Order: sequence, then C-alpha cells, then structure tokens
Amino acid sequence: MKRIVKFVTALITLALIVSVASCGKNSGKKIVGIAMPTQSSQRWIQDGGNMKKILEDRGYQVDLQYAEDSIDAQVAQLENMITKGADCLVIASIDGETLTNTLQKAADAKIPVIAYDRLIRNSEHVSYYATFDNFLVGVQQGGYIVDKLGLADGKGPFNIEIFAGSPDDNNAYFFFNGAMSKLQPYIDSKMLVVKSGQIEFDKVATLRWDGATAQQRMDNILTAHYTSSNVDAILSPYDGISIGILSSLKSVGYGSGSKKLPIVTGQDAELPSVKSMIAGEQTQTVFKDTRTLAKRAADMVDSVLKGEDAEVNDTKTYDNGIKVVPSYLESPVSVDINNYKEALIDTGYYTEDQLK
Ligand code: GAL
Repeated sequence: MKRIVKFVTALITLALIVSVASCGKNSGKKIVGIAMPTQSSQRWIQDGGNMKKILEDRGYQVDLQYAEDSIDAQVAQLENMITKGADCLVIASIDGETLTNTLQKAADAKIPVIAYDRLIRNSEHVSYYATFDNFLVGVQQGGYIVDKLGLADGKGPFNIEIFAGSPDDNNAYFFFNGAMSKLQPYIDSKMLVVKSGQIEFDKVATLRWDGATAQQRMDNILTAHYTSSNVDAILSPYDGISIGILSSLKSVGYGSGSKKLPIVTGQDAELPSVKSMIAGEQTQTVFKDTRTLAKRAADMVDSVLKGEDAEVNDTKTYDNGIKVVPSYLESPVSVDINNYKEALIDTGYYTEDQLK
C-alpha cells in the first residue's frame, strides 16, 4: 500500500512539474507582454496581431491585452504582466502621463519597457520608442489641404475647421504642430478662414480620439457658423474622427446636390476610411504600415533581451519630460484616391475584396 501511495505522490509531483514547466517562464520561452489601447479601432487590432505573430515566430511567449480605452484596465493589465514574470513590456498607452508608477514597478522587477507608437511620458524607465515620424504625419495632412485648395497658387480664401487628437496622447501635439506648420501661414494671410475661431490645440482637441465627440463638435460648428456659407476643408488627425465629421457633414446635406463635401484628411488607412475614400467622401489618409512598426518593436524586444543596443534613428525629438527616449521613426505615406492601390493593395496590406 505504502508503495502505491509513494508511486501516486510521485506521479502527482511529476504532473505538477510538467504543468508548471509548460507555462510561463519555465517553458524556457521569454514572455513579452503587449498592452494595446483598444479594439474599437482596427489599426490597434492589426498592430497587436502583427506583433504577436512576429514575436511568436521568433520563439517568444506573448501576452497580448487590450484595455478598451480604460486607463485603470491598462494599469491592471500591466501590473498583472509584471507579477506573472514578463521579461519585456511593449506598451501603446491610453494616457501617456499615467504610467509612472507602473513603469517603476517594471523597473524594480528589471523588466525593460518599449513605448509603441505613443510616447510614455514622465518616466525614466522607457528603454526605446518605436513610432512613425509624427510631425511629418501632420505636415502630410496640412500640406495635402494646401495643395488641394491651390493655396500656393494664390487661390482663396477658403473656410477651414480644425480638429486635433487626444490631449493625453503626445502624438496629438506632433500631428497638430506638423499640420499647423503648413496651415498657419495661410490663416495669417486670411486665405484660410476658421469661422468658428477655434484654432488653439486645447479648443480643437478630441478626448480619446473619439469619433462621436468629433461629430458632436462638428454639428455645433455647422449650426453656429455655416448656415449661410460652406466649409471647404477639415483638418482631421485620425480616420475615426474623420468618419464622425463626415457623418455630421452629410447630415446637413454636404455630399448631395451642389453642396460638395469639403476636403477631409485622416490617418491610419483604416478600412471604413479607405472605403469612404473610394466612395468619394473622405479625401485623404496617412498610411502607417502596422507591419513595419510591429517588426521594429519586435527588433527592439530582441535587442533589449539580448542586452544589446537597439537600432534607432532619432535621439533628439522625443523628450518625455524626464529623458529623451531613443526612437526609431518609420515613414508615413499620404494616401488618397490616386495612390491607394499602390500603397495599400500592391503592398498586400489589404486585398481588393476587403475594400469592396
Ligand atoms: C495615435 C496614433 C494614430 C491614431 C490615434 C488614434 O496615437 O499615432 O495613428 O491611431 O492614436 O488611435
């Protein structure tokens, strides 16, 4: 009898060892925790999916979490990753200012952190930042409006309204400043007129990049300032915002009869926006290939976990309030009806069927 008990105990112990070994660190695989902001926007689903695949192909175990734009949920997810023994964290923050304590916990546990697309501010514990040239994104949006309206050829004046992104996202300021570098000279010369008078960042920002919030603001502006004239261009920083703005415009008759839709910019080449562009509604978007960014972040993970320096191409721009975070800036591409096939289909980002 004793023997049988001993045998069973040994079996249970063995089973436990095997089950512990097959999960987490003991599988021999390093664990990468990926914290993404939300699944309500298609781009983040692609970002997360691309990164998970690349990292798993390279032999990592991946813990991918989305926080549906709740700051508390993102903090809880990150703290859980830290407790479970992640070896590296890749974070696209919801609010870039609220992760200071969480990153301290990561640092105490010797877990390196890579900021993904959005800079994490107020912490020294950000090893690297993988992003796009965010100022250039804004230049492409503002420059597109200038070109399309023919402002440099002396055409004008035109009416424009301005939208910016979320004030808790460092990127929003870069997009805005880049776009205004192109638009402000024409606002100063009165060839661009902002009838609402809302020009400063804090007046035009859109909390959490929310399309419905932008739609509401556009409704208010149209009612208050455009009953007897039309708006010719809208600076929109992001596709989700553009779609909200377009709904507002269409609800008061833009896009039908002689009331032409204004030029509406965007960013991310999300499916609804590319379809809208093909339907002749949204005018432009900025394509930031999530495959490229995911690979860049995966390379940074590889480097930090090997104790090597990661490749960077910018060591000056991204001061997070405590330090300048070494960054790699990928290149954004301005896309409209004339080049979407080349940029989005020929590169395999979308199939023709997805755009139907
Ligand atoms: C920004 C990002 C943009 C857009 C926006 C809303 O941080 O750089 O590409 O995705 O968030 O999600």
